Amino acid sequence: MPPRRAHRLRTAAGTVTVLAAALLVPTADASVAAAPAALAVPAPDIPLANVKAHLADLQAIANANGGNRAHGKPGYKASIDHIKAKLDAAGYTTAVQQFTYNGLTGYNLIADWPGGDPGQVLMSGAHLDSVASGAGINDNGSGSAAVLETALAVSRAALQPTKHLRFGWWGAEELGLVGSKHYVNTLPTTERAKIAGYVNLDMVASPNPGYFVYDDDPALEKVFKDYYAGLGVPTEIETEGDGRSDHASFKNAGIPVGGLFTGASRLKTSAQAQKWGGTAGIAFDRCYHSSCDTSANISDTALDRNSDALAHAVWTIGTEVALPPGPSFENTTDVTVPDNTTVTSPITVSGVGGSAPATLKAAVDIKHTWRGDLVIDLLAPDGTAYRLKNSSSSDSADNVLATYTVNASSEAADGVWKLRVQDVATYDTGYIDSWKLTF
Ligand code: TRP
Ligand code: ZN
Ligand code: CA
Repeated sequence: MPPRRAHRLRTAAGTVTVLAAALLVPTADASVAAAPAALAVPAPDIPLANVKAHLADLQAIANANGGNRAHGKPGYKASIDHIKAKLDAAGYTTAVQQFTYNGLTGYNLIADWPGGDPGQVLMSGAHLDSVASGAGINDNGSGSAAVLETALAVSRAALQPTKHLRFGWWGAEELGLVGSKHYVNTLPTTERAKIAGYVNLDMVASPNPGYFVYDDDPALEKVFKDYYAGLGVPTEIETEGDGRSDHASFKNAGIPVGGLFTGASRLKTSAQAQKWGGTAGIAFDRCYHSSCDTSANISDTALDRNSDALAHAVWTIGTEVALPPGPSFENTTDVTVPDNTTVTSPITVSGVGGSAPATLKAAVDIKHTWRGDLVIDLLAPDGTAYRLKNSSSSDSADNVLATYTVNASSEAADGVWKLRVQDVATYDTGYIDSWKLTF
């Protein structure tokens, strides 16, 4: 839980008295960026040659160990030792975490860069294991090498980030996200809550690449899309199996996630070949999970771009200086939400002036016995509706306790905002307990 906010907030517009008597503030912030941010340090270019050298090392490790780097095989432990030695030499605090799966010992490697806010951890990671059939150089030497070289670049820059930076290499991903699940599930709840975001790189140099960005945490998605927009390279949302890599272990624990992907066995369409080059009608990676996933199975361009994109994310989010939150306004009057009914709850905003921010936060606390019944919108003073949450008949959990970030920059800040809550299914009911807008 973040600290409770002060009852009175000093702002440029003067002192705003918050309406709440007791501040039951529901701030499980949904996004890695807690507040509008400024002053991020620009990222260095990550040398492609260095990333490729890491891939050559992983290939050599596989060659010397029966051709793979799979869970429980000597090539896996050799991969861990190799990466750990580079990070130790660069000034990281490293830890090897052991687990057992299928009766075999597996390993995660965690590397912490000293400094930054220990309560705001930005984590980047990749699975280091291959399947048993090959060296696993695109899957997932590529992500492992990009994360490693980004970590080494942090050391070369002697970076002093605002957030605490952590890097992870996971074991036994190929057997069901085993290592990352073990890491997340054995982290104390207090430590889990400190992870502001997790960025996953799994298969980032497919030889017939697509440029896919995970559509999860909005701030992480934006930082990657911004990077690619700067290159003039279009991206698509990652859809080749959501939950098929280690970010799912973090997402399931409520940690904001993002990531990059260049495609696995799915075929590149002709529209995709037109915008990205490469060959339509063949897989993004024809060697996916096979013995030909060697150091020849790599797009240098994709590897270069995605390594630079990761560095851009780590620098941008890891060094940003959060601005103090703006004024907030809360309504704590309960509003009953009957079955199959639409209700609203108003908040009058005054004294802010100008436009609402691109990161308007709407913190919502609704008690309900089946939250899947609820459709929630934020209504601007002019009536424009911003969808916060859709209904979902399968989401049987209680209550909505969430903070949504809304791009409200085309709205005037002052006026009467409304939370509109529609119950769209019979039987379960509830009430709006409180909600709050932070500008
Ligand atoms: N992690 C998968 C594997 O190693 C590959 C994969 C398939 C993937 N779909 C994905 C990775 C989507 C990231 C995102 O077998
Ligand atoms: Zn794989
Ligand atoms: Ca209902």
